[in-house]
Amino acid sequence: MAIWPAAGGAGSLWTMTSATSPVHVTVTGAAGQIGYSLLFRIASGQLLGPDQPIVLRLLEIEPAMGALHGVAMELDDCAFPLLAAVETTSELKTAFDGTSWALLVGSVPRKAGMERGDLLNINGGIFGPQGAAIASHAAPDVRVLVVGNPCNTNCLIARAHAPEIPDDRWFSMTRLDQNRAASQLAQRAGVPVSEVASIAIWGNHSSTQFPDFENATIGGRPAPEVIGDEGWLRGEFITTVQQRGAKIIEARGASSAASAANAVVDSVRSIVTPTAAGDCASLAVLSHGEYGIPQGLVFGLPVRTDGTSWQVVEGLSHSEFAQQKIAVTTDELLTERAAVQSLLGG
Ligand code: NAD
Ligand code: LMR
Repeated sequence: MAIWPAAGGAGSLWTMTSATSPVHVTVTGAAGQIGYSLLFRIASGQLLGPDQPIVLRLLEIEPAMGALHGVAMELDDCAFPLLAAVETTSELKTAFDGTSWALLVGSVPRKAGMERGDLLNINGGIFGPQGAAIASHAAPDVRVLVVGNPCNTNCLIARAHAPEIPDDRWFSMTRLDQNRAASQLAQRAGVPVSEVASIAIWGNHSSTQFPDFENATIGGRPAPEVIGDEGWLRGEFITTVQQRGAKIIEARGASSAASAANAVVDSVRSIVTPTAAGDCASLAVLSHGEYGIPQGLVFGLPVRTDGTSWQVVEGLSHSEFAQQKIAVTTDELLTERAAVQSLLGG
């Protein structure tokens, strides 16, 4: 374990001039690809805002501690004014001690030819102990975002080991899919991506996900009306979003990292800042029977927040086509849940 003082700040960790207490943010797998894109954005204030000091608590496995030490030196060398301290550790207790945001990235990424669900056997075991450590050591306001794949079911595993943490604190990341979908719609419509709103990912962060173009808008009008090509929306659009992660692995030889880190920042921002009128954010959250989805899955849904509490968007309608897609991704999540019963304590 190492404690890194604030850049340029000799002496106490808490000698910052800001009156605001630092928020502790944990990133697991911090020496990995996503970590390398994510940490600098957090430390620069992009995650929690330009006035919020941060303590970074960085978890790695022992063999990666040397690399993590190097990353911590680079954080120091950025002299980020908001970065009160960086703590590097391979111990769960230290990693989650007093943390308000647990960003669970650390895990093995898939290789070309694999589905994300193929990682359950490899990665599933990581998340139970982390959930238990979060319950024991994190701050009372802790929120957890699971990124490591398969992220929906890994989130379910972590949560099963921390039943005392309320349901509304658990998220897994479908924001990268939302951003991909928005980008595809904007390109097809020939408009800036800022014109696209209310595009949510339903279900699993996997090749069964349903990017709900039916309820999306472009320039305030229904996306299907603006695109004017139902065949493209039902076919190539969905497949492109579903398969984007695999295509990136094929092209890059490694899974998405900078765009994933960007989606982590967007996810947290979408939880802590009020949702714009007519928009929603895509987050996988614990289901409570919304839209007929079985209870107790971590399911991608459209969410709105006032910056303090969030709700699933109600009253959306879906065609029979969309309902079938949502049924497929639901079945996959039920199958994943059944496969990890032993990790859920059931
Ligand atoms: P990476 O291999 O570059 O880094 C992962 C890091 O995790 C490594 O440094 C490794 O040492 C560490 N690690 C492994 N087991 C750990 C454990 N038990 N505790 C702490 N750290 C541990 O991988 P990456 O590209 O950063 O991807 C990380 C994960 O994120 C993968 O599972 C990947 O599939 C997933 N991912 C999810 C999304 C999403 O949208 N949800 C997007 C991109 C990647
Ligand atoms: C992604 O969507 O890019 C990540 O989940 C990585 C992957 O395995 O596809």
